[in-house]
Amino acid sequence: MKIAFSKNLEKADVWVIPFWEGPKEAADLPLSIGRALDDFKGKNGETALCYAGDQRILLVGLGKQESATVEALRKAYAAVVKFATSKKWKRIDVLFPKCKQKEEFFKGIAEGILLTHYIFSYKHDSIKEDPPVPIEKVVFAGVEPLKSCEEIETVVNGVHFVRDLVNGNADEKREAFLKAAKHLHPKVKTTVLDKKQIEKEGMGLLLAVNRGSTIDPAFVQAAYTGNPKSKNRIVLVGKGVLYDTGGLSLKPTDGMLAMKCDMAGAATVLGVVKVAAELGLKVNVTAVMPLTENCIDANSYKPGDVYRGLSKKTIEITNTDAEGRLILADAIAYAVKHLRPSAIIDVATLTGACVIALGDDISGLFSHHDELADELLEASEYSDEITWRMPLHADYLESYKSEIADLINSGSREGAAIKAALFLKEFAGDIPWAHIDIAGPAFIPKPKHYNPMKGTGYGLRLLVEFLKLRA
Ligand code: BES
Ligand code: MN
Ligand code: ZN
Repeated sequence: MKIAFSKNLEKADVWVIPFWEGPKEAADLPLSIGRALDDFKGKNGETALCYAGDQRILLVGLGKQESATVEALRKAYAAVVKFATSKKWKRIDVLFPKCKQKEEFFKGIAEGILLTHYIFSYKHDSIKEDPPVPIEKVVFAGVEPLKSCEEIETVVNGVHFVRDLVNGNADEKREAFLKAAKHLHPKVKTTVLDKKQIEKEGMGLLLAVNRGSTIDPAFVQAAYTGNPKSKNRIVLVGKGVLYDTGGLSLKPTDGMLAMKCDMAGAATVLGVVKVAAELGLKVNVTAVMPLTENCIDANSYKPGDVYRGLSKKTIEITNTDAEGRLILADAIAYAVKHLRPSAIIDVATLTGACVIALGDDISGLFSHHDELADELLEASEYSDEITWRMPLHADYLESYKSEIADLINSGSREGAAIKAALFLKEFAGDIPWAHIDIAGPAFIPKPKHYNPMKGTGYGLRLLVEFLKLRA
């Protein structure tokens, strides 16, 4: 989709005219639309189509001006894009609303439009009943060209990049992921450890999870150095389970249905490094992504057996479906050993318990480091991707006691999101570390506001905001 600016509304398939909730003046309209305005309240996301001669006009409600937020604008313009694509309009001219906060509100409007403008489908064009038609051009009228537009487009393209990786077929994910990682950006150095190199590194936990799969594991790193003078480096670790059947602790069909999403953490951190490089942020950041399926097979790793990871800690497997923490343990231990991180943030679709606790809209944030947690919470306020800090209650570590190994891998169900986070913390040493459990918001069953169904790309904008705070 092309974005442009113009002084006035021009020839377009539709003019989008915004109204704040409350009394309306017809004088605000460029053309007379008869009495259409009488019936229009201006509630957030409300739309009404009317005509002035040959010109289509779509009224869009923004809600109350006094309490307007960037997020409210994202939601209002999501409704505009849904309306326009359903009508197959190709060029829309958007009149900028009357307001003082031009930059801030532009962010909401542009992100709302661009985030909603996403189509993913394996359907063949000829059998699509009513194929959605992408909008070709959006022109913002009545506002000076804004420099921030390019950055917004870059960030939202990053969100789409994550959604595409998550929505792709599980069987094609490894290849798609490696291809994307290798061509991320000229300034990003990507390295991939293959199975032999993973064995050499001693990542016995990643290898254990991979045993049941015919697809080799991969350990991917993507490093961007935007501030060569600084020794600081943020390491983002992403859970890259390409498909999670549960392994021998097999999931029921219903629980498996969404499990192509189990590499959303890895896709997110890869996307963040891509965007950081494209924006030229003055930070150093490395994404670390252990990739494997968790499948069921005669070779599968087995409940009751003990495996040793890169950290040398031994883990007694009590549930093969608690695989994410195993591959993350090796990845975090790798980062601690080799990458001198100033902070480690891992992102993972880690627990169903987190979804039960916080639902589809909110991720769980866990950290032993108050400053790092506060920075992430601040970033989340800028991106409006809600995250909620959960307690890392150390006593719950009791639940991981093993008679024959250092830890078991799956504690009891109560507080399982916290317990999973505590397990990861064991591998971060004294490096400032945070864990974001995105099992809820990464993948949703039906479209909501500016998010499509399935992969949402949740967390990318949050982490980009975090890097901007650090830059
Ligand atoms: N990938 C799942 C977690 C998940 C659940 C992600 C729902 C997205 C939506 C993870 O590997 C898993 O299976 N977790 C188990 C852990 C349990 C066996 C300790 C869970 O949450 O049930
Ligand atoms: Mn699992
Ligand atoms: Zn999983």
